Amino acid sequence: MKLIQRPRRLKKNPALRRLVRETNVNISDLVYPVFVVHGKNIKEEITSLPGQYHFSVDMLQNELAEIIDLGISSIIVFGIPDKKDPGASQAYDPNGIVQQAVREIKKLYPNLLVITDVCLCQYTDHGHCGLVQDGTILNDETLEILAKVALSHAEAGADIVAPSDMMDGRVGKIRDVLDANGFIDTAILSYSVKFASAFYGPFRSAAGSSPQFGDRKTYQMETGNRKEAFREVTLDLQEGADMVMVKPALAYLDIIRDIKNQFNVPLAAYQVSGEYALIKNAEKTGIGNEELLMLETLTSIKRAGADIIITYFAKDMARWIRRNQL
Ligand code: PBG
Repeated sequence: MKLIQRPRRLKKNPALRRLVRETNVNISDLVYPVFVVHGKNIKEEITSLPGQYHFSVDMLQNELAEIIDLGISSIIVFGIPDKKDPGASQAYDPNGIVQQAVREIKKLYPNLLVITDVCLCQYTDHGHCGLVQDGTILNDETLEILAKVALSHAEAGADIVAPSDMMDGRVGKIRDVLDANGFIDTAILSYSVKFASAFYGPFRSAAGSSPQFGDRKTYQMETGNRKEAFREVTLDLQEGADMVMVKPALAYLDIIRDIKNQFNVPLAAYQVSGEYALIKNAEKTGIGNEELLMLETLTSIKRAGADIIITYFAKDMARWIRRNQL
């Protein structure tokens, strides 16, 4: 047999492989999560997320300077309040931790794109993403609070609000309230396809947001559901979402591809805390090289169709890209 087709011809050396490489992660794809806490002079490593930190607002500047220096232009801010209550009042307090942080970030770096996570779970004493009555998570009553949270973030200067609660109708409610208050240009990135995942563990210990009873399955999605992902995205777009998200990423690459093929809006994927922690522990357990695992998983998320990748590896990945691709 005469072998005419030889795919190996294009694998011969690094320059050739680079020339024909189909997928590159760009620094501009990356969004870096930032955790802020009350207090002063705090930069404390998060035990469950090695390499990630809790920052007090006064300690953000160096971190942000580093992020910007690496070429990363977007962050997503998560707040850890000092008080929790059943109604999540700290979540929409104008002097809440996220609101303070966003004001300061925008003062320091007006061009850094600031996304805020809009949810109640860090702020409620029961740890659920909505208000609770007799063990049930209330939907419509929660929307009122979520819209107040989103508005307070917009007032503080957030460019994009990202509801992650998975209540029905929250995108429409948030859009209404933002518009009614003059924030017509504040964009909504909806966590549209958020699965009830076991990969959120390290985040929940970092944010102190584990549900104190039950689980999140009455609002987050079942792992096996594809058609429901279409439905959730369709609804969010009808309600005014500007961008949508699939979360987690690695266990849901098929869903990322499905949504990418079907809808014409920017698509984000969130490489969540459990995905990050697994890779962080890989070296210790002899599974593999952290940097290579980072590169492989982030490339696969991009290849699956994500336009935007939220990842705790954003800084490491930006460094890798600068070393290898410029
Ligand atoms: C808040 C929220 C969660 C995450 C992002 N926003 C936790 C959850 O839904 O339990 C998870 C992020 C991660 O695991 O990295 N609802």
